[in-house]
Amino acid sequence: MAYNLLKGKRGIITGALDENSIAWKVAQKCHEEGATFTLTNAPIAMRLGEINKLSEETGAKIIPADATSVDDLTKLYTESMDVLGGKIDFVLHSIGMSVNIRKNIPYTELNYDFYNKGIDVSALSFHKMLAVAHKLDALNDHASVVALSYIGAQRTYPFYTDMADIKAMLESIARTFGYHYGKQKKVRINTISQSPTKTSAGNGIKGFSDFYTFADLQSPLGNASADDCAAFTVSMFSDLTRMVTMQNLYHDGGYSNTGISSELLEKIQG
Ligand SMILES: NC(=O)c1ccc[n+]([C@@H]2O[C@H](COP(=O)([O-])OP(=O)(O)OC[C@H]3O[C@@H](n4cnc5c(N)ncnc54)[C@H](O)[C@@H]3O)[C@@H](O)[C@H]2O)c1
Repeated sequence: MAYNLLKGKRGIITGALDENSIAWKVAQKCHEEGATFTLTNAPIAMRLGEINKLSEETGAKIIPADATSVDDLTKLYTESMDVLGGKIDFVLHSIGMSVNIRKNIPYTELNYDFYNKGIDVSALSFHKMLAVAHKLDALNDHASVVALSYIGAQRTYPFYTDMADIKAMLESIARTFGYHYGKQKKVRINTISQSPTKTSAGNGIKGFSDFYTFADLQSPLGNASADDCAAFTVSMFSDLTRMVTMQNLYHDGGYSNTGISSELLEKIQG
């Protein structure tokens, strides 16, 4: 059911790779709720071609941009304001990549070139997106910016290796930039800490499927799906959450506050 929550709002959505991507579902929901927006992804991801389907479905123009490049991001904002006809009301940062995870390198033996790459792509890109918007004065007063995070930023999961540190940095950027941008332009910046979700990035983690089941059993409401995450993100883009900023918001079916569920206890007891 749609509520016209984003009617008249203009946005930029990063990270829609295929129909499993969280960003893909966010784009569909934003469209349902009356927003207009541009879609962007790394030029290399364009080769898959999947994003063209989403573009046709939502009427959104695709503007390729490597999120580590300030020049690409400058072009992204400038073209988006041009295409959409004004300043931007919401931005989704849905970008994550760790070569160390892809290559199964344990935390104690991390490759530092890969580590730096992961930081650049998954955390510094968020700072750059905000800094470019700030410099161009591309966001409207009360605009809402959301980045996607994971509870590995607060608690240790052996398989999450360098992404744990990188997500901690991402969440810190949301708080710190949120202060400055909030003071100056009333722009709000938050991270949503999402349940494990079956996407390209998620499935790239060793043992993900077993862990997905563990989290599902641990959470009183079960794992939050990508569709649920999209609905929550839309509420964060809407005027209904105007005073929420500088927060890391758990969207995880109650996982983060559960010590152990009876289902898991029963499994251990055999
Ligand atoms: N899947 C999960 O279990 C889960 C859980 C919590 C948080 N998250 C976070 O959600 C976000 C989206 O991930 P997803 O699970 O939808 O997977 P996904 O693989 O569909 O999305 C990741 C996106 O990052 C893009 N990307 C990578 N390098 C880039 C670059 N240099 N410039 C621009 N874009 C680039 C990819 O092309 C891809 O579209 C990530 O930040 C991820 O860490 C995922």
